Amino acid sequence: MEAAFPDPWIRQFSIKANDVPAIIAELARLGLGANVVSRGEWARARRAWLPNESITLEGVGKTDADLRAAVSAARRGDPLRWVAVESPEEAEALATFAQGAHVTLDVLFRLNPDVAPETQAVLAVGSGASKFGMTETELTRTVQRLAGAAPGGLRPRGIHLHVGSQLGAIDAWRDGVRRAVAVLGLVRGSMPDFDTLDVGGGFPVAPFGWAPSVPAPGRFAREIPALLETVPADRRPLRLAVEPGRFLVARAGWIVARVLHVRDRGARLAVIDAGMAELVRPALYGAVHPVVALTSRGEPVDDAGPAASLRPGFEPTRVDGPICESTDTLGVHSLPPLRRGDLVAIRDAGAYAASMSSAYNGRPRRAQVLLR
Ligand code: LLP
Repeated sequence: MEAAFPDPWIRQFSIKANDVPAIIAELARLGLGANVVSRGEWARARRAWLPNESITLEGVGKTDADLRAAVSAARRGDPLRWVAVESPEEAEALATFAQGAHVTLDVLFRLNPDVAPETQAVLAVGSGASKFGMTETELTRTVQRLAGAAPGGLRPRGIHLHVGSQLGAIDAWRDGVRRAVAVLGLVRGSMPDFDTLDVGGGFPVAPFGWAPSVPAPGRFAREIPALLETVPADRRPLRLAVEPGRFLVARAGWIVARVLHVRDRGARLAVIDAGMAELVRPALYGAVHPVVALTSRGEPVDDAGPAASLRPGFEPTRVDGPICESTDTLGVHSLPPLRRGDLVAIRDAGAYAASMSSAYNGRPRRAQVLLR
């Protein structure tokens, strides 16, 4: 990520992907700040010892209490790096709280880029019909209204954008960033402080063992110079930021489970003791997470991905979770003979797994172990 978006790019880890403080701290050591969407996530970043100046607050769900917390931090002389506002209403509420507290907050304005992202519809937040961000007109009007208001409150600093997650191609992202650069250039003419463009996250990860058919971060980054050149030099953003989540952590996490039952249901079926409560992505998005058998020492029996199906003794095995729902399945995987008590691992579970886990069926909070 750093090679693709080197300094002075601001790199903010989107901690909704993985909010374990030890991981946030590890990424902070590598130069990443944290992008948070609530006071809950903010508290996780603070537990990782991040200073507020490297934390940014965004999100469609910010409550008055979240906004007031950002104002209080500024009043204590310890402001967040910025707050990205979602709507004219949110901007007005935040401005009122900030003026009441006699502080000025740096804010970005989230643009709905109105593009058609190359990802699953459920992850395409940059489409025009989505609930996220403001249209170009709403955004410029909101900034103008703030500029005309009494001094103090909010200092408009730029535009925030997030086209979608697990982007399978760069085209929609490029279109979205181009629009943001244009809108930013327009506002910047009358407002020199309007100097920041945060292009969001969305950098994809192909399931382990699959041909790498997704664009790498560098492929996205390579578009930036030409996009900036679409506006005059004095209208370009001075500060650029990215907010990767998945790309930084997806491969780094495995869920370890035990086999509960092995049944013959036409094909072999293994029920294991982890499923949609621990990893909802297959049930929710049809996501593929490779499942491998582990030795008693916790090593993969075969690490060759799909090629393992050629191994003698391996057979296609449907792997289902322990929850009382038939959507609780992890799909078909090539696995060696299994019996109750054997260990298996679900791969690529470092992003949007634990952070999206639930207590459904009365399941306890899972232990998470950080290995170096
Ligand atoms: N910035 C914003 C404003 C976002 O909404 C998100 C993710 C990111 C950055 C980080 O996106 P990433 O680099 O991780 O793609 N639960 C889904 C993914 C939802 C992403 C939500 N927003 C999944 O498991 O695939």
